[in-house]
Amino acid sequence: MEIRKATANDVAQIQQMIQHFAEQGLMLPRSEKSLYENLQGFMVAVSQKRVVGTGGLHVLWKDLAEIRSLAVHPDSQGQGIGRLLVEALVQEAKALAISQVLSLTYQIPFFNKLDFQIVQKESLPHKIWKDCIHCKKFYKCDETAMIYYTQSSSVVYAENVAEC
Ligand SMILES: CC(C)(COP(=O)(O)OP(=O)(O)OC[C@H]1O[C@@H](n2cnc3c(N)ncnc32)[C@H](O)[C@@H]1OP(=O)(O)O)[C@@H](O)C(=O)NCCC(=O)NCCS
Repeated sequence: MEIRKATANDVAQIQQMIQHFAEQGLMLPRSEKSLYENLQGFMVAVSQKRVVGTGGLHVLWKDLAEIRSLAVHPDSQGQGIGRLLVEALVQEAKALAISQVLSLTYQIPFFNKLDFQIVQKESLPHKIWKDCIHCKKFYKCDETAMIYYTQSSSVVYAENVAEC
């Protein structure tokens, strides 16, 4: 099993998995269009050439990014794949020098295990609610806001390189 950045070839399988859980009310559905538009932020877990998990990182503000559409195929749950996906997305946030990673979720014990802390939704900056206006749960959002605080640092690709 490997965790890697998603490619356009993964989108159909990603959408199918999200749809499966969206039908159970566990997460919001995503259109293929929205997945292609946000593809750069998506990671996948792949086993035997099959997408068995996915999750996306969506930058909201200077110091805040949100994990969206986190899902592990029912046959592959409980094997540490969700944890690996979240860790990879947190690494992405760190590489972008973003200090807080948010999840709006029903999976409180899972995110607790991964050191996310519950915060009051009202404490989040208003700027991040732009997308919520389009959500069918806008007037009755029952998800819990949880945040992971990273030690943000930018990734240095080359240091002390001799001048060309
Ligand atoms: C939530 C979800 C992504 C977790 O993925 P997973 O691969 O099954 O989780 P992991 O195996 O990586 O679990 C990591 C840790 O969390 C714990 N955990 C996972 N789900 C848990 C739960 N419901 N209750 C308590 N602990 C849980 C595991 O026991 C594990 O602990 P450990 O490291 O001490 O062994 C997966 O269950 C899923 O896709 N659910 C449906 C869609 C969904 O709700 N997505 C979340 C949207 S925010």
